Amino acid sequence: MESKFKRTTVTSALPYANGPVHIGHLAGVYVPADIYVRYLRAKHEDVIFIGGSDEHGVPITIRAKKEGCTPQDVVDRYHKLIKESFDEFGISFDIYSRTTSKVHEETASDFFRKLYDKGEFVEKTSEQYYDEEAGQFLADRYIVGECPHCHNPRAYGDQCEACGTSLSPTELINPHSAISGSKPVMRETRHWYLPLDRHEAWLRKWILEEHKEWRPNVYGQCKSWLDMGLQPRAVSRDLDWGIPVPVEGADGKVLYVWFDAPIGYISNTKELLPDTWEKWWKDPETRLIHFIGKDNIVFHCIVFPAMLKAEGSYILPDNVPANEFLNLEGDKISTTRNWAIWLHEYLRDFPGKQDVLRYVLTANAPETKDNDFTWRDFQARNNNELVAVFGNFVNRALVLTKKYFDGHVPPLGMLTAAEDEVMAELAAVKGNVERLLDVFKFRDAQKEAMALARAGNKYLADTEPWKLAKTEMGRVATILNVSLQLVANLAIVFGPFLPFSAEKLRKMLNCDVKDWERLGETGLLPEGHLLGEPELLFEKIDDAVIEAQVQKLQDTKKANEAADRKANPIKEDAPFDDFQRFDIRVGTVLECTKVPKADKLLQFKIDDGISTRTIVSGIAKHYNPEELVGKQVCFVANFPARKLKGIESQGMILSAEDLDGSLSVITPMRQVRPGSEVK
Ligand code: 2FM
Ligand code: ZN
Repeated sequence: MESKFKRTTVTSALPYANGPVHIGHLAGVYVPADIYVRYLRAKHEDVIFIGGSDEHGVPITIRAKKEGCTPQDVVDRYHKLIKESFDEFGISFDIYSRTTSKVHEETASDFFRKLYDKGEFVEKTSEQYYDEEAGQFLADRYIVGECPHCHNPRAYGDQCEACGTSLSPTELINPHSAISGSKPVMRETRHWYLPLDRHEAWLRKWILEEHKEWRPNVYGQCKSWLDMGLQPRAVSRDLDWGIPVPVEGADGKVLYVWFDAPIGYISNTKELLPDTWEKWWKDPETRLIHFIGKDNIVFHCIVFPAMLKAEGSYILPDNVPANEFLNLEGDKISTTRNWAIWLHEYLRDFPGKQDVLRYVLTANAPETKDNDFTWRDFQARNNNELVAVFGNFVNRALVLTKKYFDGHVPPLGMLTAAEDEVMAELAAVKGNVERLLDVFKFRDAQKEAMALARAGNKYLADTEPWKLAKTEMGRVATILNVSLQLVANLAIVFGPFLPFSAEKLRKMLNCDVKDWERLGETGLLPEGHLLGEPELLFEKIDDAVIEAQVQKLQDTKKANEAADRKANPIKEDAPFDDFQRFDIRVGTVLECTKVPKADKLLQFKIDDGISTRTIVSGIAKHYNPEELVGKQVCFVANFPARKLKGIESQGMILSAEDLDGSLSVITPMRQVRPGSEVK
């Protein structure tokens, strides 16, 4: 089918410049985006690939304070490091700029002003905590105090991580500032809000009816947001780091980081193409694709489109292929806990092996669910697939040609059934890979490319030309000609996935074949063509190298555990009588639903053995409601009832909090009668 689009604008999430990037970033966003862009370029399509650093936001200011430097120092340092890492991994941005650039400041400021002038914002005054000592308003996360529900003394202004309840800062007992430690006071402040509620109707139609082809994880998340009802969102903050709100009397206010960051895609396009940028953002014949991780879905599918629509002259994204998360050795990647493989460290420990990591991350891409990276799997995929299949096939084909034909492509003779089989594989590969890449299935597409290498390797192993050298040189010539054509095709098909290896292959073949249209041809290398020098395409990775990496992670884990024990010691002795005052019971979940307009709350109907009771619990971030229906849970049955979002909650569901803050509901090992006491 002829596409209605003439060109493609590809963006990849702008990472925060307050730390280095790790394999989770690469797997989730940058490798798939790069594969896609390289594929389009190989097809000679008109495409631009936009990247850059996200350099605003509260965490950057906190980091600067801690380090005793300016926020600009922080982002200068990490922007450079991140840019270098992406470069080294061959992420082929057309531009990698930053949100502290002059062009961006102007673009974001003008964008805000246009929406302001059009009356697309609503203004609201509210009371917020203000730190008089630090001289600033406090973001919810930076107010700490006692939880009114479980009395944890270190609850945050947005959530108590001990009992999982979502809070607002005014609910905290004894609140204090995490910045200065002082007691904050209430002060009035005025902000601008994007009234998403006004956009709900067209967003529903546009996403739920017109973009059913979006990945199920993306579509599902959008649907659940839309079903809960959209609320106005503040697009400004009281902060001294960011882009000043371009409105009279807005001193001390900046654009909210999530307002300015996506505009960064536009600013960076402007910086790249000052004269022609508009066609990449405003022409309906341009296709806009955002590559992001799952935590960014709502901003790219709901908030940013609403901003673009409100502005009025922009196109909307055609697809947002968001990935789920990549875990590391069974645990969630955590930058604060150093549970990550940092790209700059990988490059130091595995020089020249960028493609190995690209290959493994694509083979394990978290496209439909969270996936796990393990060093053992990394080693196995390198040794058993890249070395034993792809590398082995290429090496044999080139070395044998050098040996028997002095490095010249030999003539093709009569074809046999063995050739027919491998040619059929070759004929199918282009269509197979395209069909998958066109719908962002990178993992399966790479598998198809690998299947061609596998077919070539098997063909050589089956035909054993080295045994025919004395008697049937004609057959040997044919087998090597066919093999070399396959190798040249591998250089094309792997180009988007493994750009460094494809380049190396082209050098070894002494042939600059890249053109996607030629994929599947059987005469890429003419008879008599002189090849380059054979080299090893991949090398084995030894056990000792992998063990050293595993050991490094184990050391990190031990250090984290020791720090956790110190930070969370066992509480002082409590008399048994105190425990007996709590009536803890087992109940069966009859119903579980999200609480509208509260993104952290779930409402339960629980069979407690005597009646059905309602409990509201702040665990919506950790479970989909369906997962819990029919399960047995433990709950405190004799807390006085309290209202949460207008719903009377009759008890508290118990959960275990993992080190990363994730909550797991406590459930009995065997099914018990509802109402059974927990002792
Ligand atoms: O989640 C993040 O890392 C954000 N810095 C992504 C921003 S994407 C875009 F909006 F710029
Ligand atoms: Zn609490």
